[in-house]
Amino acid sequence: MADEQHTKPEVDPVTGYKTTGHEWDGLTELNHPLPRWWLWIFYATIVWSIGYWIVFPAWPLVFSATGGVIGWNSRTAVDQEVAALEANRGPMIDRLSSTEIAAIKEDPELLDFTLAYGRIAFKENCAPCHGVGGGGAKGYPNLIDDQWLWGGSFDDIAHSINYGIRNDNPDSRIGDMPAFGRDELLSTTEIRDVAQYVRSLSGLPVPRGSDLAAGSEVYETNCAVCHGDAGEGNRDLGAPSLSDGLWLYGSDTDDVVATIANARNSSMPAWGERLDPSSVKALTFYVHNLGGGE
Ligand code: HEC
Ligand code: HEC
Repeated sequence: MADEQHTKPEVDPVTGYKTTGHEWDGLTELNHPLPRWWLWIFYATIVWSIGYWIVFPAWPLVFSATGGVIGWNSRTAVDQEVAALEANRGPMIDRLSSTEIAAIKEDPELLDFTLAYGRIAFKENCAPCHGVGGGGAKGYPNLIDDQWLWGGSFDDIAHSINYGIRNDNPDSRIGDMPAFGRDELLSTTEIRDVAQYVRSLSGLPVPRGSDLAAGSEVYETNCAVCHGDAGEGNRDLGAPSLSDGLWLYGSDTDDVVATIANARNSSMPAWGERLDPSSVKALTFYVHNLGGGE
């Protein structure tokens, strides 16, 4: 029997469609054309794409691409948007640069702008460490309260931001706590005693049997020089108050012992090397305004 036979087109009795007239071993092929509406949409998309190639940049060439008759491209579109934004912001930034930081609050429009500008810069650069609202985290100081490691005046805050803390910048804030355990300046017992003494300074309950008198002696000899006789801290050295009940590195015995044994000496980058002066100014104002400004 032949593989393929040509017969005349006829109507398939089951589906009601015409056949193409091809038949293979008794199987006939239905003539099932694409629906009209589908074809018209298909042709319309072809026409549209040709129009698109003509109007917009489309075909890659060796070093560029066809330009399109209206001259649009995504890069010039972005450039235009950025230019418009800067034209908008430029005068406000000029005003920010030329206004004394303490006088910003007297100019309501500038005040709004500075706080918004500062908030955005803070979210982008500072929030990863200090928290979105500036609330801090273990090892990263809270910037909302009025307890400052290095000081909360405009000048102090600007200095901390511009030059950072314990980094390579020549104007960086410096002040390292010795690692009393690692460097064998104190014995394990002395560290435990002074840890409990320091905890007691802010009223934390200490375990029974702690030798606070011995701890106090260790404190006077080794710690008071930086943290103050009563644990009030010293901003020139960035030595935190140990009596205010706030703990940068935790108040559990284990945390305090670890701080004394190994020291923390955490650092912050010098933002003046990375941000322009108006951003630093807005950030200084914003941080000062978070609640603890002096
Ligand atoms: C990589 C983490 C990190 C980032 C990012 C960071 N900081 Fe800090 N910041 C720190 C640490 C850690 C300290 C505390 C260092 C110390 O122990 O003295 C600090 C301290 C400060 C202080 C001093 C606080 C005080 O009590 O005196 C200010 C002000 C400050 N940061 C502002 C900022 C601002 C504004 C930004 C964003 C431009 C920022 N920080 C970004 C880690 C960071
Ligand atoms: C040379 C100055 C210096 C001396 C001496 C010193 N400290 Fe410190 N201490 C610091 C500084 C600076 C920090 C903050 C380090 C940081 O932020 O990373 C600190 C932090 C601490 C903290 C962490 C506070 C917190 O909020 O979590 C404790 C606790 C502490 N010191 C206890 C002691 C004890 C106890 C001694 C004596 C055995 C001592 N320090 C001696 C400078 C000193």
